[in-house]
Amino acid sequence: MIAKDRLIFPLDVPDAQQARKHVTLLGEHVGVFKIGLELFVSEGPPIVDTIADLTDAAIFLDLKFHDIPATVLRALRSGSCLRRASFITVHCDPGLLEAVASEVPEHTKVLAVTVLTSLDARQLAELGIQPELAKKVVKLVVQRAKIAQEAGCAGVVCSGHEVQAVKEECGEDLLVVTPGIRPEWGDVRKDDQRRIVTPYQAVRNGADYIVVGRPIRAATDPAEAAFMVVNEIQRGLEDRHQGI
Ligand code: C5P
Repeated sequence: MIAKDRLIFPLDVPDAQQARKHVTLLGEHVGVFKIGLELFVSEGPPIVDTIADLTDAAIFLDLKFHDIPATVLRALRSGSCLRRASFITVHCDPGLLEAVASEVPEHTKVLAVTVLTSLDARQLAELGIQPELAKKVVKLVVQRAKIAQEAGCAGVVCSGHEVQAVKEECGEDLLVVTPGIRPEWGDVRKDDQRRIVTPYQAVRNGADYIVVGRPIRAATDPAEAAFMVVNEIQRGLEDRHQGI
């Protein structure tokens, strides 16, 4: 994989027209386009084919499924959109992860969402997570990553602060996708993301893929911003391999 293949750009836009615009503008620098709830709900399942037909990049269908296993399996069987999705996301419930991992086609990688990067320790405690785990988000993430691995998932989604611990505990083979990326040069640091790191730090810590949305979308020149992110990925990879 080259550095560009590791950059996931979320098509967090309201309609197909804007999604097409971003795919055309950023195709040269992005390895994976992510279709999330906003675009999927507004355009419906055909949006997956629309985007896949436009680009050689991989497609990530980020619907973060979370329901009883039977319901999620029925949803997966009722649509053809999985056909072209290289990645899908599921929340971390043991029975659900296992059911989904055994259902999807071979080319589709199931990623378990561990703890959303918009949640911090205080919010986790409010949700009833034991104080000891809430304060040490990394422990909670690693616990869930192990559940995902045992269930047969290809990887997990977690913040750049937890990547290293997940790789140490679960091994290199479990893929780690890291959102909550905020480059030092970006101007979107004070938003809903809480557990943030730079592209370089995430990759240096072991992330296989990073999700970078607003720092690219909100930049004056989004293609240039994507190019700068890919350069940081490259630097992170080099330093990681050299153990710097
Ligand atoms: O870079 P930016 O904050 O705009 O990226 C937001 C994207 O990352 C959204 O598409 C969101 O769904 C995704 N994401 C996230 N936290 C997770 C998983 C995915 O922010 N834990």
